Amino acid sequence: MNNRLFSLFTICLFFLGLLQPLATVDAAAATKPLPNIKILATGGTIAGAGTSHTQTVGYTAAVTAVDGLIAAVPELQNIANVSGEQVAQIASEDMTDEVWLKLAKRVNELLASPLVDGIVITHGTDTLEETAYFLNLVVKNDKPVVVVGAMRPATSISADGPMNLYRAVVLAGSAEAAGKGVLVMLNDQINAARDVSKTDTASLDTFKSPGLGLLGIIQNEQVAFYRQPTRRHTSASEFDVQQLSELPRVDIVYGYANNNRTMLDAAVKAGAKGIVHAGTGNGSIHTNLKPAIEAARRQGVVFVRSSRVGSGIVLRGGEFDDDSYGTIAGDNLNPQKARILLMLALIRTSDPAEIQQLFWKY
Ligand code: SIN
Repeated sequence: MNNRLFSLFTICLFFLGLLQPLATVDAAAATKPLPNIKILATGGTIAGAGTSHTQTVGYTAAVTAVDGLIAAVPELQNIANVSGEQVAQIASEDMTDEVWLKLAKRVNELLASPLVDGIVITHGTDTLEETAYFLNLVVKNDKPVVVVGAMRPATSISADGPMNLYRAVVLAGSAEAAGKGVLVMLNDQINAARDVSKTDTASLDTFKSPGLGLLGIIQNEQVAFYRQPTRRHTSASEFDVQQLSELPRVDIVYGYANNNRTMLDAAVKAGAKGIVHAGTGNGSIHTNLKPAIEAARRQGVVFVRSSRVGSGIVLRGGEFDDDSYGTIAGDNLNPQKARILLMLALIRTSDPAEIQQLFWKY
């Protein structure tokens, strides 16, 4: 062998040596088992149907069953072992405590099995943030739970449901999603259940975490997280609904100019155990309501001050004397999320000091 031939031979051996470990990694990736993902369907626009390809408002929600949703995205089979279950078939404005309890119990049951790696819940967008936050507080597992919806019915041109579902399954099957609480995935964006809110009645880019921002983004099959939730959730949460068949009644009373006490009194009379006030500004309350709050407190009704503004903190003792009234400041939870935390808190205690601590923890 002359010198040049020998050098060429040596270089080839060197590169083969380098390639060997890469080939091993590729083979490992190719043989890595697909995650087992369960899709729990509840209805909503993602399962909706219109009368024409251009109809994006006024269609019928909750028409297609879970098997139809899965069949519409055959690519799911490349990324996960997917199976479906129909938990409900409703437009999400009709969501009930009964469906929430059924869903939470089923999620806990499924995640306890070693045969389930993650869960995707298909849901209408109207109350999606509420279901996601409820589950964030009562699911007892670190495995990924992803809530997904769509803004356009499946029959429309450029329906967003199929791609949202695909990405939700990618997310639920990813190691990165574990331990981050319940996640909401629409429009390629990952948001935390606690922070996210629907902000636009019709836009595809409607789910935002006002003042806080999204947790991450999905492109193709790549999941990228940039932040993580800091408040307690899922396996670290103290709330347990496994044995419950109902939740305490909590109503929301809205704050506005020239307000009066009628709605607040009606809520107490109807048996509310708690009331969330969607106040003006920093959770401010019209002076006409103050005697009604005192009366409600005397009856043991727990009162939380939230804000109708949509972002920012309601500070304890800001413009309102929470200590004297025995009321609770809702931190930065919007009224519908504050309602959920108060419902769960009331299962444990009706002591305002303890409930205030819960609002700062969750
Ligand atoms: C619903 O919330 O069920 C209807 C609206 C939607 O899903 O976008």
